[in-house]
Amino acid sequence: MSTEISRRTFIKGGAAAGVAIAAGTYFKWEGNNIPKNVRDGNVTYDVLIIGSGGAGMKAALEAAKNDKLKVAVMTKMIPTRSASTMAQGGMNGVTGVTDPDDTTESHAFDTVKGGDYLCDQDAVEYFAETAGKVIYEMDYMGYPYNRQKDGSFHQRKMGGSSHARAAYYEDRSGHAMVHALFEQCLAKNVEFISECQMLEIVRKDEKLSGVVAVDMRSGNFISIPTKSIIIATGGYGRAYWIRTTNPYSSTGDGIAMGMQLGIPFKDPEMVQFHPTGLASNGVLLSESSRSEGAYLLDKDGNRFMARYAPKAMELATRDIVARSIETEISEGRGIGEGLHAAVYMDFRHIPKERIMERLGQVYDLSLRFEGVDISKQPVPIRCSCHYSMGGLEVDDYKTTATRVPGVYAAGECSCVSIHGANRLGANSLSEVLVFGTVAGKSAAEYAAKTKYEGNLEVLKASRDQWLAKFDEVTTRTAGTPVVEIRDKMAETMWYKAGVYRDEQHLNEASKEIDALMELYKNCYVGDPSHTYNTAFMNYIEIGNLLQISKAIVLGATARKESRGGHSRKDFPLRDDKNFMKHTLVFKEGNTYKTEYKDVVVTKYQPKERKY
Ligand code: FUM
Repeated sequence: MSTEISRRTFIKGGAAAGVAIAAGTYFKWEGNNIPKNVRDGNVTYDVLIIGSGGAGMKAALEAAKNDKLKVAVMTKMIPTRSASTMAQGGMNGVTGVTDPDDTTESHAFDTVKGGDYLCDQDAVEYFAETAGKVIYEMDYMGYPYNRQKDGSFHQRKMGGSSHARAAYYEDRSGHAMVHALFEQCLAKNVEFISECQMLEIVRKDEKLSGVVAVDMRSGNFISIPTKSIIIATGGYGRAYWIRTTNPYSSTGDGIAMGMQLGIPFKDPEMVQFHPTGLASNGVLLSESSRSEGAYLLDKDGNRFMARYAPKAMELATRDIVARSIETEISEGRGIGEGLHAAVYMDFRHIPKERIMERLGQVYDLSLRFEGVDISKQPVPIRCSCHYSMGGLEVDDYKTTATRVPGVYAAGECSCVSIHGANRLGANSLSEVLVFGTVAGKSAAEYAAKTKYEGNLEVLKASRDQWLAKFDEVTTRTAGTPVVEIRDKMAETMWYKAGVYRDEQHLNEASKEIDALMELYKNCYVGDPSHTYNTAFMNYIEIGNLLQISKAIVLGATARKESRGGHSRKDFPLRDDKNFMKHTLVFKEGNTYKTEYKDVVVTKYQPKERKY
């Protein structure tokens, strides 16, 4: 391999080709996944961002505007392999382009109503006012939007939206976003620390010291001092391992580390199940399918959404469509059995050239995994765990600061509470851009006025403890294999804390997760080698997912109502009197406790949702 790789090599499909030509610089590849100064242990970062998805890279770009600061993005993947890459449908924002009648007020209202009134409305208003601007910002960065005849970008209408406001690139919107941002980060000399699994954020005596991580390539344990941290590690869909749209990397690492620091996990029970995962494996078939006109059909070819959401039909909110599908299946109007039971999504009435122009990936995925040519046959689909509305509590949406000084959170791992109990399709990509920007700016401002006050000895001692732990866990010769724990966890979460919930199943889930946590303490990892020890990585990730699962079950058991994605068969109605509040789950040592916090209401009083 040549020692220098043209930046263009990184841009498959020309997603950001314009930017590459304009910037005209080269990314110097030094033959290692981590910068030399990190390997040598002689750098202290001002802003260290954990996670290289949309939120992480947008935050990095913003922080790097202050060229006196040292900014780095650390990722356990390579930078362009984050979960954001898999987002398909688009990014919502009012731009005045496709639909001049759209307003930021209606974006805010759709979001609050879609979130079943659990959204913090001040944060939502800020989001709706800013989202259109980031769509234009991405346009200037060279984002390859699907365009109209006059060259302006086109916007499509996603579920729960009253207007066409999702700007997009085919059904690969996240992929194009990540590449455009990566381009920009390289141009601004943001450093990347790749294939490094974060193990701990080290803070002692109220002073932040930095992070400990394992370099997956070499197996070296490294400690990285930093003045501030932005946690941008994405969601935890893999808690529902057996049916999720999320990549293997979505294991809630940042949320688990944040809880360890004392930051509460807000609204953990608010898990989104995307209505249309492929029947066989849960892989996402974009909501833009329904936006472009695809129907949902039962086994006899009836459009069943007419009974559940007569006005919005297939474009009702995800929580409603997901429940409708599960009800169809459980009442015998689906096809297939067990986990792979399904209903159909039908594209046959949509011209093939439109499918290929706007839904190329949906076409491809259906063909590869289900063997279905969607222009000729309906494809079997079923709900799949997709998104976490909850996340690390952000104290103030204007800064994304958490309650731990110097620690910020952005993107899916955070909870600024704009999604409430159910997120609208295409609000996520704009959220990561809006609040990634806020996080980068705030962390940079904090770092610029703060001296490093951490303790390098404490940091190194933590690193050494992790190395000793690695040796201990990887050389065990007995115990329950990590993958067995993972599979049982996923079954518990899917069947007992899934789309529909009730007291009895949640209590069972609680006992089962506790038992798995016990087994995890002495589990079998099985591989003591250092180079790419993915068995150790799984061990860390499953440990994180168990903590996440515990919090989901706790929050879901305590919330005795149905709201958005949290649907209790034993409490089928929303209860605004008792539960118009956020759940906060704290972890203290091995003990978890739950508190509540009021929802911020500005102008939208709760009403019954009708679609
Ligand atoms: O269905 C989708 O394209 C997913 C989009 C999103 O989660 O925003």
